[in-house]
Amino acid sequence: MRALVKNENESLISGLPGFSVLDLFHPDITEQTREELFTLACEFHVRYFPESPHAIDEWRAHIQTGESPTRERVHVWLIFKDTKPVGMWAVNVNIESGVALMLFGAVDKEARSNLPHTWLRSFLDALIELCVTECEVLGRKVDLVALESEMGLKNRWESAGFALINVPYFEPTLGMHWANAPEVTFYENNHLFVRSLDPNTRSDSTDSAQRALQAFVVAHYQLDVTIPQVATMLSQEHERNA
Ligand SMILES: CC(C)(COP(=O)(O)OP(=O)(O)OC[C@H]1O[C@@H](n2cnc3c(N)ncnc32)[C@H](O)[C@@H]1OP(=O)(O)O)[C@@H](O)C(=O)NCCC(=O)NCCS
Repeated sequence: MRALVKNENESLISGLPGFSVLDLFHPDITEQTREELFTLACEFHVRYFPESPHAIDEWRAHIQTGESPTRERVHVWLIFKDTKPVGMWAVNVNIESGVALMLFGAVDKEARSNLPHTWLRSFLDALIELCVTECEVLGRKVDLVALESEMGLKNRWESAGFALINVPYFEPTLGMHWANAPEVTFYENNHLFVRSLDPNTRSDSTDSAQRALQAFVVAHYQLDVTIPQVATMLSQEHERNA
């Protein structure tokens, strides 16, 4: 994998010496840098998330058109340790609802092997701060972060301030392209984790769960609410609110 020349648009990660991130969609990078970042993003994505190739098509289309079909702000941060690319983290921000969606994230094991246990918190705090700042500039507020994950990483997400949401969660295997298959299919073991940035709202509250579900299921994946699994997700939440 090529090492990218140090770029002035990189953001340093507080608490993680030598670590920095650079967004594939940063408005101020050159076309050549964007090409290099896209190549890196594809390499990481194929290595860590081979089951979700649709994301690469979405990023390519976003580079070409500058538009997002979901009207979210799209970020794919490439992660560097010194000048070496060591991972990626994709985050879409729903400005209207104030919810940041952490979609795909991976850091090479070697790069995190000597880091303190708290590294994930420091790292995600830094990404969240970038999203919050971006929205503040637009006069908006992000106060909720949601991510979907298998249970194996539960302790790690909790260490980064996330709470497991206790509702059934079904993630479409084709992402927002779920309608391209004759029948929509879902991953079996995904769960929803939420972190509230508002000190007055608990991460595991019904309100947080409902906003996270709406942001993922309705706004991001634009799933048809008549699909049984979708109806289950949304009605369970409705029942909790009743
Ligand atoms: C997500 C990630 C950055 C977290 O790094 P970390 O905080 O250093 O945590 P670890 O990788 O050491 O994993 C912690 C535990 O979760 C388990 N785990 C890791 N990835 C897992 C996965 N995809 N599914 C289930 N369990 C997983 C590990 O086996 C480990 O279990 P243990 O504590 O019993 O040994 C890192 O695991 C990674 O880059 N993974 C590859 C991509 C990925 O799975 N991303 C998550 C989906 S968005």
